[in-house]
Amino acid sequence: MAQLWGGRFTKETDKLVYAFNASIGFDKRLWQQDIEGSIAHVKMLGKQGILTTEEMQRIIDGLDSIRADVESGRLVIDDSFEDIHSFVEAVLTERIGDAGKKLHTGRSRNDQVALDMRLYTRIQVQMTDELLKELLSVIVRIMEENLDTYMPGFTHLQKAQPLTLAHHLGAYFEMFRRDRLRMQDILKRMNYCPLGAGALAGTTYPLDRDYTAELLGFEGPTLNSMDSVSDRDYLIEFLSALSTVMMHLSRFSEEIIIWNSDEYRFVEIDDAYSTGSSIMPQKKNPDIAELVRGKTGRVYGDLIALLTVMKGLPLAYNKDMQEDKETAFDAFDTVKDCLILFTGMLDTIKFRKDRMAESAMKGFTNATDAADYLVGKGVPFREAHSIVGRLVLYCIEKNTSIDVLPLEEMKKISGRFEEDIYDAVSLKSCVEKRLTTGAPGRGAMEKVLAVYKDYLNGN
Ligand code: ARG
Repeated sequence: MAQLWGGRFTKETDKLVYAFNASIGFDKRLWQQDIEGSIAHVKMLGKQGILTTEEMQRIIDGLDSIRADVESGRLVIDDSFEDIHSFVEAVLTERIGDAGKKLHTGRSRNDQVALDMRLYTRIQVQMTDELLKELLSVIVRIMEENLDTYMPGFTHLQKAQPLTLAHHLGAYFEMFRRDRLRMQDILKRMNYCPLGAGALAGTTYPLDRDYTAELLGFEGPTLNSMDSVSDRDYLIEFLSALSTVMMHLSRFSEEIIIWNSDEYRFVEIDDAYSTGSSIMPQKKNPDIAELVRGKTGRVYGDLIALLTVMKGLPLAYNKDMQEDKETAFDAFDTVKDCLILFTGMLDTIKFRKDRMAESAMKGFTNATDAADYLVGKGVPFREAHSIVGRLVLYCIEKNTSIDVLPLEEMKKISGRFEEDIYDAVSLKSCVEKRLTTGAPGRGAMEKVLAVYKDYLNGN
C-alpha cells in the first residue's frame, strides 16, 4: 500500500478499504496531464521564490524523466499506489530525493485532480470535434455525388414525398454541425484553470495563478476556490453533448439498418463493415450500425450516472467525485469508437440509386404534387386534396399509380386533369420544383452545398 497520508493514523488501512478507495486502476490514464500540471505548478513556485531555482529545476528534470520513461515503457505505472498523483510523486522522490517532497507545496489533490481531468477532457472535446469534422466531410462528398439521386422521403415511416439522397444526408450534416458547435462552445466555457484552489480555500503561499493558467493554455484562473474543486459541470455538459452526438448517430444507424434490409435494399454495406451469421450462410449483418445504436444507451447511462453522483453533494470536494472518471472515460471512448467506425462504414457504403428511385415512384409520393397541379388550374386546395384522395383510392383498387393512369380515367375523377399532369407528377419535377431555401431541388441544394463546403474549409 502506497499512499500520500498516514501521519495521523495509528493503524494500517484495511486492505479492502484501500482497494475500494484507490483510483489508480482508472486514473492512470491521466499521467501525462498530471506531469504537465505539476511542471507548470513547479515553474510557478520557482518564479514566486517559493522554491529555489535549483529545486525547481531538479523537480522539472525528474518529472521529465518520468514522462519519458512512462512513454517508452521503461517505467510501468504501479497499481499498488492509491492514485496517479501518488505514483508520480513517489517516483519523483525516489529519483531526486528530498526536493521531490516539495512538489506538492501550495497544492492539494483536489485542485490537482480537477486540473488533470480538465486538461484531459479538453483534449477529448477537441478530438470529438475533429472526428465530427471527418464525418461531415464524408457526408458532403456523398451529397455532392447524389444531388439527382431520387428517393422517397418518409413521415411515420410511410412514403411521403420524393426527395434526394443529398437532401436526406444534408439533414445529418446539420445535426453533426450543431454537435461541433456544442463542442466548441463547451471548450470556451471550461477553459479556466482550477490549479491553486488548494483543498478548497486557496493557500497562504503567494501563488501566481495567472501564470500557471497561462502556462497550461487556459484563458485564466477560476475565480472561486470552492467551485474550482467541486465543479464537474463541464463534464456534464460534455457528456450531454456526447449523448446528443450518439442520438444522431443512432438515428442515422437505424436508417442504415432499415435501408440495408431485404425489403428496402437502398444500400449495401461494405464487406469490411459487416459481419456474417454462424448458422445462416446468406446473412450479411449491419452489426456496426446496430452496435452504434446500442452503445447510445450506454453513453446516456454515463451522463445520468454523473448527474446523479453530483446532485446531493455539499460543497466542496467529496470523494463521490472520484466517480466522475470511469463514467466520463467510458463515454469518451465509446463515442470516439462509434464516430470512427460509423464514418468508415458510411464512407464505403454503396447506395443503390435504382432501388431508391424505383421506391420513390411507388407509394403515391407525388400525390401532393397532383393536388398542387389542380390548384394551378384554379381548384381550391381542399377540393384538390379530396380529388387526389379519390384518385389515389382508384389507383390502389386498380393496382396502378398516378403517373401511368390513362388520362380518360383521370378525367372521370376530375375534368381538370390535362395531358400536362404527367409532367407535373414525374419524379424529377416533384423534386426539382422544390426550390425554397432548404428544399431538395437541385437549385436550392447547390447553394446549401456551397455553404457547407465553405464551412468545412474554414473550420
Ligand atoms: N482520486 C481522487 C479523485 O479522483 C483524487 C482526489 C483525492 N482527494 C481527496 N481529498 N481524497 O477525486
